[in-house]
Amino acid sequence: MTRGSTGPGTGFTRRINRNNGETVRLLVTGGAGFIGSNFIHYVLSHHSDWQVANLDKLTYAGNLTNLDDVQSDPRYRFAKGDINDRKLVSNLLSQGFDTIVNFAAESHVDRSIMDASPFIETNIVGTQVLLEGARQSGIKLFLQVSTDEVYGSTDSNAFTEETCLAPNSPYAASKAAADLLCRAYWRTYGLPVIITRCSNNYGPYQFPEKLIPLVVTNALEMKQIPIYGDGLNVRDWIYVEDHCRAIDIVIQKGKPGEIYNVGVGSERTNLELVYKLLDILGRPKSMVTFVADRPGHDRRYAIDATRISRELGWQPAFSYESAIGDTVNWYIKHEAWWRRVKSGEYLDYYKRMYSGK
Ligand code: NAD
Ligand code: TYD
Repeated sequence: MTRGSTGPGTGFTRRINRNNGETVRLLVTGGAGFIGSNFIHYVLSHHSDWQVANLDKLTYAGNLTNLDDVQSDPRYRFAKGDINDRKLVSNLLSQGFDTIVNFAAESHVDRSIMDASPFIETNIVGTQVLLEGARQSGIKLFLQVSTDEVYGSTDSNAFTEETCLAPNSPYAASKAAADLLCRAYWRTYGLPVIITRCSNNYGPYQFPEKLIPLVVTNALEMKQIPIYGDGLNVRDWIYVEDHCRAIDIVIQKGKPGEIYNVGVGSERTNLELVYKLLDILGRPKSMVTFVADRPGHDRRYAIDATRISRELGWQPAFSYESAIGDTVNWYIKHEAWWRRVKSGEYLDYYKRMYSGK
């Protein structure tokens, strides 16, 4: 993919270019999760003529209440199912979709350290099932939603799309493997695939096992805030709607066979971010507890997003300062949402994850 990989046929090197008002028939996978549900909201409010089907297995991270307000929209429909289910995927794809956006994944690094198997099944095998289904059905665009974590950790330059893949967690390795399968389907079969690699997202509907919602909801519950190691690991935090807009632009103008990094250069240490959240909430810094570090913990992610900005005109619209405050307010206002999510299976996970740390 990317430089030196114009693909197998000239017909595939053109841009998708959908600015002619063409209706897009989208199959979104993993649309009941954090970014997927934000993306479905984004599409339905920005494209009156697009149709969206959402295929989601509803794992612990999938939550249909994220989509309560669009359930009755005639442009939207939901199908419960697993991307590993070849028959189901093939049946769905025979219904005439032109674009697949693959969000479906096991997405949490700490869970991948406890047990990598579901990550291999969904992130690698599931992606191959979708790629094969897409190939059989002659899809126009397969967009793989990937992550900056495939590049590993950097203490110098920001990652470009040419940076070597060097994943360090089972999660990151499974996403890198999926990216390589996407590349192979482009090179071998000419399947029009595009990969996006985004940095850490934050915003509404994020499952509270991830840092920001975990800190906000723990602080609201007056519980300790666990910080791994020295808290000086750096992430580039992007507001989820900026990521959704990047995907939308890639669907409309992206070049098949290409990779696009997505990031905003908003690098923060974990400690800096957590103190900011506690400050917004009026809670003391003393709520922070330093716990044992995550094994293989990546020190810093940094994204160079020049390509998507220069070639497709994408720019972030949200500043960290205001979007982080809006995000905290969202969790304050949606207490019933996170209280429900934090009960059940999550309680069990939390005990296993943090006891003895
Ligand atoms: P999430 O864990 O919140 O949601 C994942 C969704 O996928 C859930 O709804 C789950 O039910 C569904 N799912 C899981 N396995 C499935 C299967 N086998 N078949 C069908 N559906 C299945 O994840 P997220 O944070 O919304 O991330 C979405 C995608 O974006 C992932 O591919 C992730 O790697 C990528 N990504 C995430 C971030 C981030 O900061 N969260 C950053 C960059 C890229
Ligand atoms: P996370 O939200 O899990 O995203 P990722 O590991 O994919 O970047 O974690 C973000 C950072 O916060 C990461 O450096 C790990 C750290 N972290 C903690 O210090 N404590 C926690 O309880 C969690 C969940 C994460």
